[in-house]
Amino acid sequence: MTTKININGDIQDEAFISILDHGFLFGDSIYEVICTSQGKPCFLNEHLNRLYASASGISLEIPNTSKEIKEQIQNTLNSAENDESYIRIIVTRGIGEVDIDPSSCLNPNIIIFVKGIPQIPAESYRKGVSIALVSIKRNSADSLNPAVKTGNYLNNVLARIEAQKMGAEDAIMVNSLGQLTEGTTSNLFFVKGGRLLTPVKECGILSGITREKIIQIAHKNGITLEEGKWSSEELFNAEEIFLSGTVKKIMPVTVLDNRPVGKGIPGPITQKIMKLYSELLDSLD
Ligand code: PDD
Repeated sequence: MTTKININGDIQDEAFISILDHGFLFGDSIYEVICTSQGKPCFLNEHLNRLYASASGISLEIPNTSKEIKEQIQNTLNSAENDESYIRIIVTRGIGEVDIDPSSCLNPNIIIFVKGIPQIPAESYRKGVSIALVSIKRNSADSLNPAVKTGNYLNNVLARIEAQKMGAEDAIMVNSLGQLTEGTTSNLFFVKGGRLLTPVKECGILSGITREKIIQIAHKNGITLEEGKWSSEELFNAEEIFLSGTVKKIMPVTVLDNRPVGKGIPGPITQKIMKLYSELLDSLD
């Protein structure tokens, strides 16, 4: 599996960014993660739309059109020649003074990082993973809006560290009102009374592309889905829980705070969504 890095159109095996780039100095950057399916980037338009929305969310102007970015992604994929690839597009504020003022940064850096797709053990999908409700709160939308996919993930990093200390693989964060939000790199779904529930965007989440696809799948297949505001207690008597994201796709959760979720195995609605999502990926051309 090959790694290739495209910096502003130049494709290399290894690449370096200046320590004067404000992306490094202040986390002043945005990014997207895309995976390929049958060699082609999945939901590319949706991801690029979110990239431009994130840029606008931090008042950063991407100097390239989405057509140009698509071409550069394809060049990098061609150069890597992996069967399936993980693609990370990072746009940083660029090099500037060692000063928080971004006005000295004249040229954003556009980095397209391509590597082989991470292999998630099949056992994780068969048995499910463990999560913990952590004390670290999700950023509130009026500080660093979670809807903007910035390179500043320290909030999520701290949540992951806390979860690991609690013996769990991932964390679920609540917002400052105690409402469920999302995982560190994934959205949250749970089942109660046979209904599929997920925190509504106003709770302060990244509106995941996978999440949007699951909502469409549920509507098309007669699965009752509700977006809403729920406290963390609601999760403790959930019948099923799963996480969604570009890399992990649909990941069943069978342990919450060291206690089994439902019967302690991936439940029927989770399995149905996993199957339908995998069929959706297979049907893309
Ligand atoms: N993360 N919430 C957060 C905080 C995320 O970072 C992500 C994605 C998601 C799911 O979004 P999507 O379905 O569009 O991938 C939700 C990517 C995969 C990452 O940072 O690796």
